[in-house]
Amino acid sequence: MDDRELIERAGKAREHAYGRYSGVKVGASVLTESGEVFSGCNVENASFGLTICAERAALFAAVAAGHRKIKKVAIVAEGMEFPTPCGACLQVMREFDVDEVIIAGSDGKVDTYELSSLLPKPFRL
Ligand code: THU
Repeated sequence: MDDRELIERAGKAREHAYGRYSGVKVGASVLTESGEVFSGCNVENASFGLTICAERAALFAAVAAGHRKIKKVAIVAEGMEFPTPCGACLQVMREFDVDEVIIAGSDGKVDTYELSSLLPKPFRL
């Protein structure tokens, strides 16, 4: 599974995004250490605080299937130029040892970041 394929899978998940209130539709796919892919999309709610981001939806799908080591996360969005993950999603990525975050901008440009550069000082217990 190369980065391009992972981005394509995130794009497929984005087709199901429920961005009714913000107009933003996000898809994310995660690659587990064992090479499996899980995807998620943002799901908004009339009670705004109940909204879940695409990245956490994808990460939680992987965890629910028994995967706790995630290598990469790819993110694609419609309705925003460059979907840098929010702090909450970065913190959840840290929990499951994500190394790389691949962000596909609306202009087709793809940037890859080490998670540690996006979240240099995560909360730890
Ligand atoms: N959103 C994500 O899916 N991922 C992020 O990292 C940040 C924001 C979603 C949540 C909400 O549905 C919409 O984008 C606007 O905030």
